[in-house]
Amino acid sequence: MSFLVNACQIKEQNKPLFLDKMSNEMYLGLDLGTSGLKGVVIGADGNVLAQESASLVVNSPQTLWSEQDPESWWQACVEVIRQLQQRLDLSKLKAIGLSGQMHGATLLDAQGNILRPCILWNDGRSQAQCEALMTQFPELKERSGNLAMPGFTAPKIRWVQENEPDIFAKLAFVLLPKDYLAYRLTGVMSSDCSDAAGTLWLNPETRQWDDALLAATALSQANMPKVYEGCDLVGLLAEPIAQELELTQLPIVAGAGDNAAGAVGMGITNPGQGFISLGTSGVYFTVSESHKANPDNTVHAFCHALPNRWHQMGVTLSAANSLAWFAKLVDKSVAELLDALEDSDIQRTNVLFLPYLSGERTPHNDPLANGQFVGLTNTTNTEAMTLAILEGVAFSLLDCQNALESAGSFVDELSLIGGGARSAMWRQIIANVLNKRLIYRDGGDVGPGLGAARLALLGEQHSQGKDIELLITEYCTMPEILEVNEPDSTFGRYYQDKYDLYKAFYQSTKGFNEKLASLLS
Ligand code: XUL
Repeated sequence: MSFLVNACQIKEQNKPLFLDKMSNEMYLGLDLGTSGLKGVVIGADGNVLAQESASLVVNSPQTLWSEQDPESWWQACVEVIRQLQQRLDLSKLKAIGLSGQMHGATLLDAQGNILRPCILWNDGRSQAQCEALMTQFPELKERSGNLAMPGFTAPKIRWVQENEPDIFAKLAFVLLPKDYLAYRLTGVMSSDCSDAAGTLWLNPETRQWDDALLAATALSQANMPKVYEGCDLVGLLAEPIAQELELTQLPIVAGAGDNAAGAVGMGITNPGQGFISLGTSGVYFTVSESHKANPDNTVHAFCHALPNRWHQMGVTLSAANSLAWFAKLVDKSVAELLDALEDSDIQRTNVLFLPYLSGERTPHNDPLANGQFVGLTNTTNTEAMTLAILEGVAFSLLDCQNALESAGSFVDELSLIGGGARSAMWRQIIANVLNKRLIYRDGGDVGPGLGAARLALLGEQHSQGKDIELLITEYCTMPEILEVNEPDSTFGRYYQDKYDLYKAFYQSTKGFNEKLASLLS
């Protein structure tokens, strides 16, 4: 189908990035995603040597809830390391870096035991707590640089305090998902400032915990781990774990929230650069030279994983997840759906999809928003519905682009990462809808894991006294370009009109979902 008309295949000379380094040292990045944990090993030349993954299950015991068992993260971590051991000699590993799904509240007692399932980034139960926090503590927006949105960590703790007082009474420490893995690996509690900024307890300008923000949820620094830069060492692999995993007691590097880690993996480290992540969530990420807050536009303004850098992002909660949901519903794989669409003649459809299966952050901050199809007839087929899903997610990314641009953040072109980015058709639709050049690079499918491995390398080398800025210039480069998707103006009018309908449809059906849900109560 002619969506690919503007996609020029560029296969540059397949040369290693760093020819001078021929050692066989290796660095491991562990990326704790929502649907799975991925391990990516790079060599000292920065090239990917191997990757393995283990899947994870999300539980939704009640409407709006999204939870995971932290023990399953640890099991997945052990499984991935064992799989990698089948392929590589991991005694050559010099350091491990971490990346992870952001915002999750992992609650621990004073002995470090898990108190309840982790409440994840796409959990929408804490809207009332967000509103209460914003009203009772009007400084929150200014101090944290962000709006209190369900999914962020602080309002979830308020929810636990109000709804599970017995658990709150035992609460001694709150860790983010990847930091819980670091704790299991080292026995030391730590965080990094890119991930910590997503709790609402960090002052992103100073990159340190803010006592007043913590006090707003009845916590203090005693409940928080030490905050590091993403490329700092946080500890060594604990001896019993090293023995169990047949590894040496190698350094563990703080790492980053998955979006900042993805940026490091794609070499997105300087102001004016940006990328889109098409993972379970969809993220439009831009780098800024200082902390640029714009909470009223639902822009997330956090610290980058590298020193003296910050970033902004717009977040849509159900990107590749929308396609995975539909595939499961029609009992097909995502690849089968995409292949069938590509083989069909459909380039435009009257079917419209709102991808709000997990509510929405940017631009609505509406945990009660629902997914919707409109325009179905007797002739609608799965291909038209698949196309509507790809378009709907692209429109939600256009919402993110508009929010970021009204916050003064513009980029000329965007790299793409995440499982969804593997689809050339989806990339072309997004290029057309955003009217931006999109660049798909080698390693795009393992973006955050690659970033975590790069942070491991940076951290280990920096600890030997090497200058961090020189290391960033040398190692955080943009990987080889595999394909460029230029916007195709022949679709301009169609997408503009459909985007207007997309926005109008959300507004005109707002509130329906609550009425429908009330029929069941
Ligand atoms: C970002 C966010 C998601 C998760 C997904 O604010 O909530 O992108 O990090 O893993």
